[in-house]
Amino acid sequence: MTDHRIALIPGDGIGTEVLPPARQVLDAVGRRHGFGFSYTSYDDWSCERYLREGAMMPEDGLDQLRDKDAILLGAVGYPGVPDHVSLWGLLIPIRRGFRQYVNLRPIRVFEGIDSPVRGATAGAVDFVVVRENVEGEYSEIGGRLNRGFPEEMAVQEAVFTRAGVTRLLDYAFDLAERRGGRLTSATKSNGIVHTMPFWDELVAERGAAHPRVVWEQEHVDALAAKFVLDPARFDVVVASNLFGDILSDLAAAVAGSVGVAPAANLNPERTHPSMFEPVHGSAPDIAGRGIANPLGAISSAAMMLDHLGHPEAARDVTDAIAAILAGTDLRTPDLGGTASTAEFTDKLLELL
Ligand code: NAI
Ligand code: MG
Repeated sequence: MTDHRIALIPGDGIGTEVLPPARQVLDAVGRRHGFGFSYTSYDDWSCERYLREGAMMPEDGLDQLRDKDAILLGAVGYPGVPDHVSLWGLLIPIRRGFRQYVNLRPIRVFEGIDSPVRGATAGAVDFVVVRENVEGEYSEIGGRLNRGFPEEMAVQEAVFTRAGVTRLLDYAFDLAERRGGRLTSATKSNGIVHTMPFWDELVAERGAAHPRVVWEQEHVDALAAKFVLDPARFDVVVASNLFGDILSDLAAAVAGSVGVAPAANLNPERTHPSMFEPVHGSAPDIAGRGIANPLGAISSAAMMLDHLGHPEAARDVTDAIAAILAGTDLRTPDLGGTASTAEFTDKLLELL
């Protein structure tokens, strides 16, 4: 029996409430398919630790994770700790240190979930946002000058490298070849006159190398409108770090709730562990009440199964999710129901 070594980082708030259900699902589906997991849980890596010790994780944190096959993360963020501290103290070092340059965010409208968007019907909306995950607009380059004076200023540089953009685009075009053969690139080369024309040039270059994919580009503002007006037209959407972040949250809302959306931070070369996490954050407004929707975390675990070479097991999980949504009225409050996280998870395990 293969044992996959999994690092669990629950983090803060509802992160600690959605990871145990994901683990139960993994164990159940593993038993059925004849593989297992050995978990190492890093319960302490959180904002509480930051408040106590001044760091979200220990100094050798990445080294502790390095030999794992994958990382499953809940969410980080806690009122009183600035969001850039929790993000740059844990998530971003893992994404960058482990070369997880692809952030994959699939969007699917399930039967049984009412999308706030009229045209977003089950089956019709099924696309994936491929977000650049280690460079772009989220850079450390820049600074602040003249703090406290009237001429105070801040400068933030975006970094786009040929190597970094090309490898992301190749991943996205390859994915489009395996899916519906269509790709949309998010740009803003009318307003951002250096990095975005460079991005567009590289898209055209990689598009020429993938002749079976029909591709187009859209300015990100117009694209945002089309996500709402006509979400069924998309297959693979490729975007820079910032644009992909915004577009994928919007897309998750189109799918019905940010609580159901999964994400993968992939190191495609597999020289480092990849990380799987729900799109949502720590939701301090509902944390501690046992009502968080575990589907985002569970779908992320399904993406992890896929990555670990168990596509049939991953399909079992997504089939069970589709079945509970289409065949029962059981819903957590974010989807208009009254079920607790535990009640919902128990039913899902039964269907599995
Ligand atoms: P959020 O995703 O935590 O919450 C937004 C809204 O969606 C809230 O009303 C929340 O109750 C609801 N929600 C989110 N996930 C849910 C779930 N699974 N079930 C039911 N309802 C759910 O985003 P917000 O409020 O912007 O951020 C809260 C904290 O989380 C901040 O500290 C932020 O920095 C952090 N955050 C962390 C992320 C991560 O760890 N990857 C991602 C996004 C935010
Ligand atoms: Mg986001």
